[in-house]
Amino acid sequence: MMSVDLLQKDPAFKFLEVSGTNSIISDPSLEQEWVAKKLVWIPHETQGFVSASVRQEEGDDVVIVEVSDTGETRKVSKDDIQKMNPPKFTKKEDMSELSNLNEASVLHNLRDRYYSDLIYTYSGLFCVVVNPYKRLPIYNEPVIEAYKGKKRSERPPHIYAIADQAYRSMLEARDDQSILCTGESGAGKTENTKKVIQYLAHVASSVKSQKTGGSTPATNSIAQSQGELELQLLQANPILEAFGNAKTIKNDNSSRFGKFIRINFDTTGFIAGANIETCILFYMITFNKIIVASYKS
Ligand SMILES: Nc1ncnc2c1ncn2[C@@H]1O[C@H](COP(=O)(O)OP(=O)(O)OP(=O)(O)O)[C@@H](O)[C@H]1O
Ligand SMILES: [Mg+2]
Repeated sequence: MMSVDLLQKDPAFKFLEVSGTNSIISDPSLEQEWVAKKLVWIPHETQGFVSASVRQEEGDDVVIVEVSDTGETRKVSKDDIQKMNPPKFTKKEDMSELSNLNEASVLHNLRDRYYSDLIYTYSGLFCVVVNPYKRLPIYNEPVIEAYKGKKRSERPPHIYAIADQAYRSMLEARDDQSILCTGESGAGKTENTKKVIQYLAHVASSVKSQKTGGSTPATNSIAQSQGELELQLLQANPILEAFGNAKTIKNDNSSRFGKFIRINFDTTGFIAGANIETCILFYMITFNKIIVASYKS
């Protein structure tokens, strides 16, 4: 969780963390009210799942429910009903902590967070991202600084936390790490890959080692500019996109080939080089794989 000072100082965190609602959703009287409603998820033709109250059981297999939004009564097979989580689980940052981990609850949690502009959500080791289709002020230097060297549990979900975890694991375990971005066309793989590179270029900028004479990248100030190498790495993407992307029905900027990006670091953790390999696409399934890679010997 964020510390209060950071939350107040940086407006970006209103796009990263649930604010204000925590006290309401952990209210015990609300919790009791919720139990009395006997709410469940039932399948819906267009909305996936909708909330409904169990009114009556009919035999062993069927229940009569009242749809919460419309008040309409429906007969539903017991097998089609999915359990709902109590209000204290609202907008959960890590869905592996949901007491009822079913499809309806996962979709509801992601949608609920998305409507509050919270696009990143963990699901155990995974980070699920929902494309906001608008620019959120969550990708800048103060936010990078807030994630630098912090444990995943200390900050709200973010692609920067994933990048930081890979970087730290590489330094600690002295072993290659990889981040795989996968999802349907238009999901945001390319955009998030660029954020990972932006993060690594910032925290492991080689120019800092030259200027500060070998201090570790993690402790350096951000005042210094990025190195030539990091700039080249960041600037390679628009060129690759200019040649390798095209407008499709699903995505105005659709990658027509996957990318395997390998970033090499020296023994102190500064970026020492990088290379990008292209991969053939298999129909619509694309991926971008970034390797936070091996040390230069
Ligand atoms: N985090 C984000 N913030 C703002 N806009 C985003 C974000 N992620 C994606 N978008 C928008 O969605 C568009 C599609 O995203 P992106 O190109 O990353 O999809 P993709 O998963 O790489 O798709 P494809 O498989 O077709 O290459 C982007 O051009 C951008 O306009
Ligand atoms: Mg792409």
